[in-house]
Amino acid sequence: MTTAAIVLAAGKGTRMRSDLPKVMHPAMGRPLIGWVLHALAPVDVDQTIVVVGHGADRVAATLPAGAVAVVQPDQRGTADAVAVGLDAVGDVDDILVVPGDMPLLTAATLIALLDAHRTSKAAATVLTATVADPTGYGRIVRDGTGAVVAIVEDRDADPETAAIDEVNTSVYAFDAAALRDALPRVGNDNDQGEWYLTDVIGILAGDGLPVAAVVADPIEAAGVNTHGQLAAAAGELRRRINDELMATGVAIIDPARTHVEADVVVAPGATLWPGTYLKGDSQVDAGAVVGPDVDSTDSHIAADATVRYAVLEGATVGPRATVGPYTYLRPGAVLEADAKAGAHVEIKKSVVGARSKVPHLSYIGDATIGEDSNIGAGTITVNYDGYDKHRTVIGDRVRIGSDTMLVAPVEIGDDAYTGAGSVITTDVTPGALAIERSPQKQIEGYAERRRRRAQEKHG
Ligand code: UD1
Ligand code: CA
Repeated sequence: MTTAAIVLAAGKGTRMRSDLPKVMHPAMGRPLIGWVLHALAPVDVDQTIVVVGHGADRVAATLPAGAVAVVQPDQRGTADAVAVGLDAVGDVDDILVVPGDMPLLTAATLIALLDAHRTSKAAATVLTATVADPTGYGRIVRDGTGAVVAIVEDRDADPETAAIDEVNTSVYAFDAAALRDALPRVGNDNDQGEWYLTDVIGILAGDGLPVAAVVADPIEAAGVNTHGQLAAAAGELRRRINDELMATGVAIIDPARTHVEADVVVAPGATLWPGTYLKGDSQVDAGAVVGPDVDSTDSHIAADATVRYAVLEGATVGPRATVGPYTYLRPGAVLEADAKAGAHVEIKKSVVGARSKVPHLSYIGDATIGEDSNIGAGTITVNYDGYDKHRTVIGDRVRIGSDTMLVAPVEIGDDAYTGAGSVITTDVTPGALAIERSPQKQIEGYAERRRRRAQEKHG
C-alpha cells in the first residue's frame, strides 16, 4: 500500500487575531505544524504534502526535509486545500488528511486510523471523537445502522443535528481514486460560501460507497483556533512531557509549575524545582538541581550542578558548578567544573575556569578567567569603550580585590593580586600586586569643628 499525507496549513487563523500564521504559533517550544509533522513521522506514508497559504514562506521554511510545501493561493475551504495538495501527489492508494492545527494528535492514533482504513477498504475513514461540547465542530451524522452518512458543519446544523456530540476531527483516510472522483463535486452552498472537505463524506456515502469511522480520544481531537485553545493544548503537551520525564527518573517537584519544551533533554537523576523553564536546546545532566525559578534557553547544565533563581541564555554550567541566586548568564558564558557565579552576577562571552569563583555583584564580559581564581565583590570588566569590545584575560590562582575595574584590553598574570577599589588599566605581571588608589588622608577633629561651625551659624 502506498499513502500520501496532505497536511492542511494554509488558513489564516482569523480567530487568533495575530499576524503570525496560525500553524506557526508555538506550544511548548514547537509550532503547531511541527507537532503535527512530528506525529506523522513514524506513520507509514510515502509522501508528505503541506498545503500553505497565509505566511507561506514562513511555514515552508520550518518544514523538515521530506515534506513538500504547495501553495493554495486563496483559502477557499478545506476541500479546495486538499484539491491543491492532490495536484502534488503521485500515484498512491490512500490519502491521509491531517489539519495543521491539531498538536495533540499522536502517531499511535494516526497509525490506528490508517490500519483500520486499509483493513476495511472503505472509500473514506473519518477520525471522530465524542466531546462534552461539540460547538464549532462538524457533526457526524449516522444512519439507523450506524453507518456514517454525512458531516454537517456547526454553522449549517439544525438544532437536532447540533445536538449530536460525535464530531469530525478533520483527520481522514481516503481511497485516493474515490477522493479524486468526489472532490470536483463539492459545492460551496453553505453559510461561509467555502468548499468544505466534509461534503466529500456525504458524496461518497450518497454513491453507496462504504464510509467508516474510528473514534479517537477527545483530548487528541482538540483543534487550535483561539489563544484559549492554544493555552489548553500547550498545558496538555506540558503534562505529557513532564509525565514522560518523571517516568524516566527525573524528579519534578511540582509538574504544574515546570515547563520543559519539546526539544530539551533532561537526564534521569536531575531534579527540577518549581518555576523552572527549560527552553530551546537546553540540556540538564544527571544529578543537576535546577530551580526554583530558572529560565534557561539553549543552555547546558552539566552533572551535579546547582542553578537557582537565574536566567541562562546560550550558557554552559560545568559539572558541580553553582549558579545563583539572581544570576544572569548570557550567550557564551561558560562555567567550567566546580566554578561559581553567585548573587547579582552577570556573565557574557566569558570562560570562568575550573574552581574559580565570581561570588557577588560583578559584570564579567569578554573575559577569560583561569583556574582557582577569585573575583572580589563588585568587580567589573570594563569591556566597552563606546566603539569596540575588548578582552580581559585573568590567569590561574589570581585574587582580584573587591570593586576592581579591569579596563580592557588588560591581562592579569597567574598568581597576581589587585588591591580593592583599583582601576586597572595596564597588564599585571604574574605574582605581582597591582594597586591603584590615592593615599588616604586623615583630618583629625573634623566632626567636632563642623559641629561648632554649625552652632555659630544657626544658634
Ligand atoms: C474543520 C472541519 C470541521 C471539524 C474541525 C475540527 C471543514 C469544513 N470543517 O473546521 O468539520 O470539526 O475542522 O477541528 O473542513 N485550511 C486550509 N485552506 C483553507 C481552509 C482551511 O489550508 O482554505 C486549513 C486550516 O489552516 C486548518 C485546517 O485546514 O489547519 C482546518 O481549517 P479550519 O478553518 O480551522 O476548520 P474548522 O472551522 O476548524
Ligand atoms: Ca480548526
